[in-house]
Amino acid sequence: MKIAVAKGDGIGPEIMDAVINIFKANKVALEYEMVDMGKWVFDKGFSNGMTPEAKHTIESLGILFKGPMETPKGKGVKSVNVTARKTWNTYANKRVFQTLHGVDTVFSRAGIPIDITIVRENIEDTYGGIEHMPTHDVALSRRFITRPGSLQVIKYAFEMAKKKGTKRITCGHKANIMKLTDGLFLDCFHEVAKEYPDLKADDVIVDDLCMKLVTRPDTFDVIVLTNLQGDIVSDLCAGLVGGLGFAPSANIGDHISIFEAVHGTAPDIAGKNIANPTALLLSGIAMLRHLGLMENAAVIENALLYTLEQGVHTGDFGDKNTPSLNTSDFAATIITNFGKMPQLGARPVLPNMPVTQTVFKLDHNPMLVSKEMEKEKIVGVDMFIESAEQPEIIAKKCLRHAGVKFNLINISNRGTQVWPTGSVYTNLVNEYNVRFESIDDFPLNQQDVLGLYVSLSGDFKICSSELLNKWGDKKAYSLAQGQ
Ligand code: NAI
Repeated sequence: MKIAVAKGDGIGPEIMDAVINIFKANKVALEYEMVDMGKWVFDKGFSNGMTPEAKHTIESLGILFKGPMETPKGKGVKSVNVTARKTWNTYANKRVFQTLHGVDTVFSRAGIPIDITIVRENIEDTYGGIEHMPTHDVALSRRFITRPGSLQVIKYAFEMAKKKGTKRITCGHKANIMKLTDGLFLDCFHEVAKEYPDLKADDVIVDDLCMKLVTRPDTFDVIVLTNLQGDIVSDLCAGLVGGLGFAPSANIGDHISIFEAVHGTAPDIAGKNIANPTALLLSGIAMLRHLGLMENAAVIENALLYTLEQGVHTGDFGDKNTPSLNTSDFAATIITNFGKMPQLGARPVLPNMPVTQTVFKLDHNPMLVSKEMEKEKIVGVDMFIESAEQPEIIAKKCLRHAGVKFNLINISNRGTQVWPTGSVYTNLVNEYNVRFESIDDFPLNQQDVLGLYVSLSGDFKICSSELLNKWGDKKAYSLAQGQ
């Protein structure tokens, strides 16, 4: 079986060489096809950070094993890591955080075992990077949470939890504040939970979750979160088990999957052969299991755990009173420990499964629709306007444009209502949301909204607008704070 390998930037080549040497020494039945991705590919003029040949190879092989890649700083350049995850729809980011004996942490010293798997939605949320500056003072990000996208990752998390034999699966969210976006994610979680009655499914607000993770990490098993919250919570979990040097990551999709370490290119130590290859090795071990190479995965993981148990370490962790090994010597020690079993947490050595490499060829983009559309009516519009005037003056002008079809309902600033009622203590910025709704809930059409748009544009710069939809009696929009 062939996989695509991108060594990456910074410490990437050093740690990737170390891991591939371990795989080769263990006679892992894989061929490695090197592909061109990363900062140096950006520098050659490929704006998405990969060559067309690299894209073709990855799409034909279906597996990418990658080192960390640098995102060039500066405007307009997108992260190749995020591009890869999004382009190939690796919707579930699985990160496993387990106590590693030999890695000293406050929890290992207290005898508190940790075995937490974070499943983070990997495509949507603010990571779409869809951002605009409607005025010089205001930057906006569009946060996409979709029903099909949420269902994909949540179903994956439940299936994985069932296979792993976990008892508890938790949804982390902020649905108390972001009622529509996180609310949708949470609804999907509880909907999927009904199909898994044997799993204890619960939800915890994300700030409370962070507190509970640092006080009682042993009470959690599998946690599923949206993209940004999942990113933050998973780094917190990395801290619980010893830091980013021990945090593997698998980006799972239906057709293409990407395996990488959570950490970045560590430019401060690049080129010195001192980086810790453990996180990339653990990611590689997860890849071997994903491919069915169970025996190789277990033998290599047991050798790694045994090595850590012996107190062998690179410079970033372990006992400062014992000398550290460099990257290649650390890898060589793991190789000499093949066949040895750690005292704690030994992995059962199961036989390799037959591996077949089939990448399902697609000839068009899959359209994900998860729900029959409900009867929809337009009942208003939010007009986001630029103005540095006071709310009463804006209201006076807007009332002139409301005409016979619209009521001016309210005006808000940064989500807080400032007209018809509000407080003079609410600070204002120069972008307002002016909400118009139809008189007596009468259904509107887009022409009505365009008429209002044209009229209002005589008085204001309209930065953007959003239709206010209703499905049956359900409002498909949020209320302003204080409305
Ligand atoms: P970083 O993870 O590269 O480094 C943070 C700190 O951890 C540094 O002190 C570094 O020396 C240390 N460190 C990281 N990995 C280590 C290892 N394996 N062994 C020993 N020490 C290690 O994070 P930073 O500095 O924020 O990002 C550097 C670059 O990496 C940026 O360009 C960023 O965009 C990129 N990056 C790429 C990722 C990926 O490819 N998936 C993920 C995160 C960052």
